[in-house]
Amino acid sequence: MCGIVGYVGDRPCADILVDGLKRLEYRGYDSAGIAVVNEGVLDKRRAEGKLANLVSLLSDDPVDGPTGIGHTRWATHGRPAERNAHPHRKGSIAVVHNGIIENHLAIKSELSDQGHVFKSETDTEVIAHLVWKHREAGHALAEAVRMSVLRLEGAYSIVVLDADTPNTLVAARLASPLVLGVADGEGFVASDIPAILAHTREMAFIDDGVMAIVTPEGSTLRRIEDDAPVELKTQTVTWSPAMAEKGGHKHFMLKEICEQPDAISNTIRGRISLERSTVELPELDAVADALSDVSHFYIVACGTSWHAGMVGRYLFEELAKVSPHVELASEFRYRRAPIDKKTLVLAVSQSGETADTLAAIKDARGRGATVLSICNVIEASIPRASHATLYTHAGPEISVASTKAFTTQVAALHLLALHMGATRGAIDEATLSADLDALVRVPAILESMIGDDTPYMEFARAWHEATSMLFLGRGNLFPLALEGALKLKEISYIHAEGYAAGEMKHGPIALVEETVPSVFLNPRDDHFGKVRSNLQEVKARGGPVLTVYTEGHEDATRLTDFAIPIPEVPHRVLPLICAIPMQLLAYHMADFKGTDVDQPRNLAKSVTVE
Ligand code: G6P
Repeated sequence: MCGIVGYVGDRPCADILVDGLKRLEYRGYDSAGIAVVNEGVLDKRRAEGKLANLVSLLSDDPVDGPTGIGHTRWATHGRPAERNAHPHRKGSIAVVHNGIIENHLAIKSELSDQGHVFKSETDTEVIAHLVWKHREAGHALAEAVRMSVLRLEGAYSIVVLDADTPNTLVAARLASPLVLGVADGEGFVASDIPAILAHTREMAFIDDGVMAIVTPEGSTLRRIEDDAPVELKTQTVTWSPAMAEKGGHKHFMLKEICEQPDAISNTIRGRISLERSTVELPELDAVADALSDVSHFYIVACGTSWHAGMVGRYLFEELAKVSPHVELASEFRYRRAPIDKKTLVLAVSQSGETADTLAAIKDARGRGATVLSICNVIEASIPRASHATLYTHAGPEISVASTKAFTTQVAALHLLALHMGATRGAIDEATLSADLDALVRVPAILESMIGDDTPYMEFARAWHEATSMLFLGRGNLFPLALEGALKLKEISYIHAEGYAAGEMKHGPIALVEETVPSVFLNPRDDHFGKVRSNLQEVKARGGPVLTVYTEGHEDATRLTDFAIPIPEVPHRVLPLICAIPMQLLAYHMADFKGTDVDQPRNLAKSVTVE
């Protein structure tokens, strides 16, 4: 999500920090800042917007020194603004942080009771206050950081600077990347390799639950839990700068596909209590009435987000006993669909800037509807035009073809449907707890599915020159058939149609021939037999078939030419699981063809015109 860079050594480091942040610009951010210590004096500069704003601030009002930290922020708690930008400071302490501190509100209220005054809306500022408090109590910096991070729940990589502890940075990590750069007489720390690659290729990757004390003489590692020493193992990174930006992957799209386990964890983090069997979405308190008493319910979105909305319909029907109309925003805005004071409009948008979706909700709000949005970008136009927003926390998505934004939208819709089911008294406890359990297992399941590209490569080798393909599925996998077809056409330029498998005989079957492959989503679920019949119809007409099937259900693979296994999961999380084969298939087809995967022709990431 955000970017971190830190330096200790003998050079003035403001330029080193800003240059490191520039190398992380590709990740997307909305504000930036640095803090440096020079002869015991700590100073910071922060600016909203692009790095150029920070650079111009630094040229008007310079700060410099041989120890410093820098950060590019991509807002998650608190809108993009100078006061929410990192580093955050308390007394002699400055902190930069990536990740989400789930229990920051509890810590904040405890510290406020002790007289602490907070200046930002961020979750990060509590870390600076905790460290400062422990320093004031007489603990050395490393111990003060260790005691502080032991209080934190969630995900973090942090770097802490203390004006009273010269030439030292203390970094710590839990579920958010952190890397040390080792050089003669200098120490570097960063969230990502590109930030420090210009200075050293000797790097050490910090593990979860480990902290680092970084000095110009070298770095030492300690286990956070019990302060036990941890061995520092360095390795030489041979990546080119471009490879490093993509985390060693060939394309951003592949990197973002691989990021989905973490992205979905971030979506559900802090919002699910397995012990209490509850979904906690305090951000929706403002629209609680609208969620419990609905006359009309519309989901409006475009492109991939519309497909997420279609998955949502199955979830709302099953879990909240309410049936939303899932609408293309570009159509809905010109219709005169009935809207009254009890109408709920849910906008789904990755960017929060899509012109048609924005216009649709403004119009609906003007006519009395309650507007809720699911969005990935804090304080974008769509959240600002909504009464309440559920953020997906997927991190910036660079590739034009949406992947992690889609699956995190589906996860957020699942949370919302469960929440609405509970609010409306429409869901029983067993269902709620089974779904929560299924959702928390999804990241690990996705992790296990990513890595073996063999079946995708085999299919791509055979069919990357196809000119037309069909994608078929039923039930909650019908939207995934649409999404599979959209992904393929977006990046490989192969014509593809997604269809409800039951509709096949009403048209698409006329396209079936030996040169037109069909992809069937046919895991072991209630639709298995029906989809299998459709598959047989295709085979009988000589059409080549690829089947996505449930691992171990070998019967499913008897009639197919290519097969991609997925693990067995409860049916409501199947769309999340089936997104992976749809994405990887499109990716490998496009890669084989040699198209511009990350920036396909004629497409834009954010469509801000009609
Ligand atoms: C563009 C993007 C798609 C996206 C759609 C809606 O077409 O290329 O990936 O699904 O816009 O964007 P939104 O930001 O509203 O989700």
